[in-house]
Amino acid sequence: MSDERMSPTLAEHKTEDRSERLAAIREALGPRSIVLIGLMGAGKTAVGRRLANRLDLPFVDADTEIEVAAGQSIPEIFAEHGEAYFRQGERKVIARLLEAGPQVLSTGGGAYMNADTRANIRARGVSVWLKAELRVLMKRVGRRDNRPLLAGTDPETVMQKLMAERYPVYAEADLTVESREVPHEVIVTAVVDALAAKLGCKAERAKAGCCRKI
Ligand code: S3P
Repeated sequence: MSDERMSPTLAEHKTEDRSERLAAIREALGPRSIVLIGLMGAGKTAVGRRLANRLDLPFVDADTEIEVAAGQSIPEIFAEHGEAYFRQGERKVIARLLEAGPQVLSTGGGAYMNADTRANIRARGVSVWLKAELRVLMKRVGRRDNRPLLAGTDPETVMQKLMAERYPVYAEADLTVESREVPHEVIVTAVVDALAAKLGCKAERAKAGCCRKI
């Protein structure tokens, strides 16, 4: 069928080339990183990896980089040196990683609570809060026991307390995307849509060269 004979919606759909839209996001991003923030179990690593793949950008996980830099696992760092030491390393490692954009960077749940890290992310990234309900978070973190903050007898109370403390700060992120119990690729699409809207990257507008910076 020729374009003229298609319904406007179909024609529109055809023109909005996916790869073009993704390229427009990359262009508007420049050297900045897409930084995923949110509580433990929000899906930052799983979504981040797939988002990077979709956007054809490198993926970096801050917690993994901290473990590499320390030569120890996160539970070992907490046990041997304490949380304050971990937070110090976390701030330094994220500052270093942010110099290497563009990329998708997923951060540990406490990272964005540090004012220096928040300022750094604001300067060198576009932040995306993956926001999830308590029930979803608990279901996901229950699958692993690698999180020192949840190692006590009542992880759900700890999680509730962290939600109360952190959600008002996470709300400063550039974008918020609901992390629900749907396949990760669905969340990735929601993040891409949010990025496109925020960066002004509808394919047509990108063609006209009017992507705006945030
Ligand atoms: C933490 C979250 C963890 C990890 C550390 C502390 C937190 O990362 O950085 O255990 O303070 O919320 P994930 O959010 O990737 O589980």
